[in-house]
Amino acid sequence: MQNNNSESTNTQSCQTAVMVSAAKIRVLNLYAGLGGNRKLWKDCEVTAIEMEQDIANVYKKQHPNDTVIVGDAHQYLLNHSHEFDFIWSSPPCQTHSRMMKATRHKKKRFTDMSLYQEIIFLTHFFKGKWIVENVKPFYEPLIKPNVVLGRHFVWSNFDITDFEIPNIKGFITAGTVAETEKLKEWLGIQYDGNIYYKGNHCPGQVLRNCVHPEMGLHIFKCMRGITENVIENQISLFAVS
Ligand SMILES: C[S@@+](CC[C@H](N)C(=O)[O-])C[C@H]1O[C@@H](n2cnc3c(N)ncnc32)[C@H](O)[C@@H]1O
Repeated sequence: MQNNNSESTNTQSCQTAVMVSAAKIRVLNLYAGLGGNRKLWKDCEVTAIEMEQDIANVYKKQHPNDTVIVGDAHQYLLNHSHEFDFIWSSPPCQTHSRMMKATRHKKKRFTDMSLYQEIIFLTHFFKGKWIVENVKPFYEPLIKPNVVLGRHFVWSNFDITDFEIPNIKGFITAGTVAETEKLKEWLGIQYDGNIYYKGNHCPGQVLRNCVHPEMGLHIFKCMRGITENVIENQISLFAVS
């Protein structure tokens, strides 16, 4: 009788353990863009937030199983962060970029502080794993990044090992049809024609906005290394109880 009980308890523990290990990580992909960072992720349930409909359409075509919401990522973070295990945020980089100080940029703009609002919010009010990425800014960053990966400054609450993927030749200026097609090929993101980001006349801009898929995968794997340990710990706790 006692043996049966302990057997049934063990079976329950195993079932619980299987349920825990089989649960897919719920990922919130903020400022999703064309989905460069997300392209190579597997075994996860992704909700992607993107403001521009035509960009969101390309994303959705590549990842039909993701939930894609056209809306404001900043507000979505505030309202929904507790529904996710992992949050990736890529706020727009234009007002942080060194290009802000280029002489041909005559339009005066304030630097968008939502980048730092999100880092502070995630640090203090989010219990899962998170990462915020942006370009190297033209000023001393107000919060020191945890790691610099190539052209990206990265803030996160897990360790990310070094990784660099060299840009293709002419990455910054690529704007002709042929160069835009090369950028698509480099990223493995295909769509017909051109998408112009916020009145920018360069068809390459929306592609230059992307994190390279290999970089996205590298960061995702670093995050999962920790998540998988958490799951393993939970399994061993179940097995003991
Ligand atoms: C740097 S790109 C994202 C790149 C993406 N992480 C990738 O790897 O492909 C930023 C994107 O955020 C979008 N965006 C800008 N402001 C937004 C907002 N308030 N809410 C949602 N998306 C926004 C832009 O349209 C742009 O596609």
